[in-house]
Amino acid sequence: METKIIKVDPERPDKSALEEAARILRAGGLVAFPTETVYGLGANGLDANACKRIYEAKGRPSDNPLILTIGDISGLYPIVGRVTENAEKIIDAFWPGPITLVLPKADCVPMEVTGGLDTVAVRFPSNAVARELIKTAGIPVAAPSANSSGKPSPTRASHVEFDLNGKIDMIIDGGPADWGLESTILDVSVDRPVLLRPGAVTKEMIEEIVGEIDVDPAVYSKPSADIVPKAPGMKYKHYSPAAKVILVSGNLENVVKTINEKVSEDSAKGLKVGVMATEQTKNRYTGASVLVVGDRDKPETIGANLFKILRKFDHIGADVVYSEVFDEAGEGAAIMNRLNKAAGFNYIYC
Ligand code: TXA
Ligand code: MG
Repeated sequence: METKIIKVDPERPDKSALEEAARILRAGGLVAFPTETVYGLGANGLDANACKRIYEAKGRPSDNPLILTIGDISGLYPIVGRVTENAEKIIDAFWPGPITLVLPKADCVPMEVTGGLDTVAVRFPSNAVARELIKTAGIPVAAPSANSSGKPSPTRASHVEFDLNGKIDMIIDGGPADWGLESTILDVSVDRPVLLRPGAVTKEMIEEIVGEIDVDPAVYSKPSADIVPKAPGMKYKHYSPAAKVILVSGNLENVVKTINEKVSEDSAKGLKVGVMATEQTKNRYTGASVLVVGDRDKPETIGANLFKILRKFDHIGADVVYSEVFDEAGEGAAIMNRLNKAAGFNYIYC
C-alpha cells in the first residue's frame, strides 16, 4: 500500500486535504493526524473492520482498547451510555484538551474498540487539524497513538512515517505535537474518579474540580501479578527504545559522577552508551552520545522532547542509555511515568 503524506498549516489546515482524509476514514481506511499530545492513527470508530486494521498496522494486542476522539461536544452523547456528574465537571473545565474520559459505553460502540470492556474512552482534542478532520468526517474517530506497538509514541509526522509507512492510507503532517506525551486518562465511570494515566492535565488540576481522586497503582509501580493496570495498555512495555534504559537518581552532582563512571565501564566493554542529559548538565558528560531532553527549569520542554530523544537513541544504535530523573510534581508525574516505563523501572540510586 502506498501511504500518501500531506502537509497542512497547523492553524488553518487546507479544507480539501481534510475532505480527502475524511473520505478515507468514512470508507474504512487509516489516516494518521496530529493532536496536541501525540500523533493519532485514525479509523472509523463505529466500523469494527476499520478498527481491526488499526490493530494490524500497529501490531497491537487486541485486548488493548482504543480511544474514540470527537470533533465537538455533540459527538459524545451517541457513544456513551451515561455522562456522569464528575464527567460533566471535567468536560466544562478541560475540553477540548489533553484529557481522556472513561465512561459507560453505548451499544453502537463495537467490542473491537473497547477490547471487550463495557466502558469507552473518549477524547475531544484541541488541535485544530484533529478537530476539523473529525468534524469533517462526521464520525467518532478511533485514534490510538500512531506508533508501532511498543515504540515511543510519535510526536512528529516523520516518526509515523518511520513506523507505519506502507501500512496506512495517509499521514497528515501538521508539525510537531505541542505537548509530546499522551493525554491524561481519568475513569469517571465510577463514583470516585481514578487516574489511569498521568498527562498534561495533572492530578492537582483535576482535584481542584472534582475533589480527591484515586490513582491506579500501576501509574507509580511496575505492573505485576498484584498490580494490573485498569488501562489495559499500561501493562505493556511501552515507550521503549531498543537500548536498555537505566535511570540514575540522587543528588544531581552524584548523578553526573555516577553516570560518567558507568559510561566508562560500559564503553570499556565495547557497548555504545547514550546519556539523556538536560541543558543544565549537557557539558558535564564525557565519552558517550549525549542528547539533551530539555531544561530542568522548564519541564514542558522535557515532555515535548522525551519521545523524540528516545527514538534518536535508536537511530544512533545505543546499547544502553543512562538518564537523569525529574521532579514528579505537576506535569513531572507524566514525564516520570513514561520514563519509568521506558526503563522498565530500572534504577541506580546514588
Ligand atoms: O493523547 C492521546 O490519548 C493519544 C492521542 C492520539 O489522542 N492517544 C493514545 O491512545 O494515547 P493509545 O491507544 O496509545 O492509549 C490509550 C490508552 C491505552 O492504554 C488503553 O488501554 C486505554 O487508553 N483505554 C482505552 N479504552 C479504555 C477503557 N475503556 N478503560 C480503560 N482504559 C482504556
Ligand atoms: Mg499508545
